[in-house]
Amino acid sequence: MIYPIVKFGDPVLEMPGKPVTEFDDKLKQLVEDMFESMYVAQGVGLAAPQIGISLRLSVIDVSFKEDPGMKLVLANPKIIKVEGKQAGTEGCLSIPDFRESVTRPKRVTVRAQNENGEWYEYTGEDLLARAFVHEIDHLDGKLYISHISALKRDLIKRKIRKLKKLGEWK
Ligand code: NI
Repeated sequence: MIYPIVKFGDPVLEMPGKPVTEFDDKLKQLVEDMFESMYVAQGVGLAAPQIGISLRLSVIDVSFKEDPGMKLVLANPKIIKVEGKQAGTEGCLSIPDFRESVTRPKRVTVRAQNENGEWYEYTGEDLLARAFVHEIDHLDGKLYISHISALKRDLIKRKIRKLKKLGEWK
């Protein structure tokens, strides 16, 4: 099924997710649904809290369907190494139509479980490194706007409040 994406303002986005403990058929279905929901929303990463499920689970595909080997499932992920820095703009499906520049590590190594509960390590560079830290932030209840200046953040929040009043932010 395709889940609607939860938008900024919903408390689930600012709450740490619970660890994934059951790697059963239900979880595999959820992972499949998360990939589908992410593709429909035109994203390259999606965290369970973004569909209203407070779990430490994210999916990433920076190839956007081009390379099946790039479909990554991150259950209970941890960052084990970061190197360097990269500048670039970043957005989030839960904060649509806004983008800001955020400095992130150039290279990030994660340790996570896949949909079968098997632990693996993966090192990503550039966009994938950015996706790793962005998605893992989601699982900690953190959004990318926490990495921008308070001034820019307040401006975004003000614009969102206006959109809410107009009924254009649900
Ligand atoms: Ni996001």
